[in-house]
Amino acid sequence: MKVVKIAVLTLMAISVVSLAGAYTIQTDNKGAPQMSLDGGKSGPVPFPHLAHQKVLADCSVCHELFPQEAGAIDALKASGELKKKQVMNKQCTKCHKQMKKEGQKTGPTTCKSCHAKG
Ligand code: HEC
Ligand code: HEC
Ligand code: HEC
Repeated sequence: MKVVKIAVLTLMAISVVSLAGAYTIQTDNKGAPQMSLDGGKSGPVPFPHLAHQKVLADCSVCHELFPQEAGAIDALKASGELKKKQVMNKQCTKCHKQMKKEGQKTGPTTCKSCHAKG
């Protein structure tokens, strides 16, 4: 019994540590199904939010980097907590390239197919 209790306490301690600094993930409010993200001088990036929620299921895949709030990415880039292109390179493009390599159906990987200029 005592061993089990220690194991549970250890697990709790580990999860508290690993959650430190991360954003709280809620799943009730799905947000806008389709959005346009600010792509700087390369132009806006249309983003099908709902399609990603359906295919990826886990909200934290993206929301571990920025909270579930409209304008969150721009706000974090302005405060320096996110680097320019960090979401693009660490999430969008990285995932699409990886899945493409594995031969799976995925999203665009070239500048012009994501950024709608003009
Ligand atoms: C593939 C990446 C990705 C996944 C997966 C994802 N989101 Fe988002 N979400 C975004 C982006 C990008 C934004 C816009 C942030 C911004 O405006 O800076 C956003 C914004 C939001 C917002 C605030 C915007 C609004 O329209 O109100 C909510 C709420 C939200 N997401 C909920 C969720 C939930 C719930 C899930 C899981 C079921 C989820 N998201 C999964 C990328 C994702
Ligand atoms: C899968 C979609 C996707 C692809 C492919 C992509 N981008 Fe982006 N890009 C984004 C998103 C989303 C943002 C906004 C979030 C961020 O800055 O990480 C962005 C941001 C940017 C910014 C603005 C950075 C800032 O804050 O000023 C520039 C410039 C840019 N991309 C150029 C490029 C170039 C050049 C390529 C091709 C080599 C490219 N992007 C490919 C999605 C994409
Ligand atoms: C963890 C993987 C993953 C991440 C992260 C991700 N995507 Fe995708 N994306 C996908 C998959 C899978 C599809 C194919 C969905 C489908 O059509 O079933 C897709 C499709 C798309 C499409 C094409 C939709 C269509 O109608 O053909 C666009 C545009 C797109 N993603 C943009 C983005 C942008 C912008 C980001 C970053 C904010 C992003 N994605 C982040 C996996 C990802």
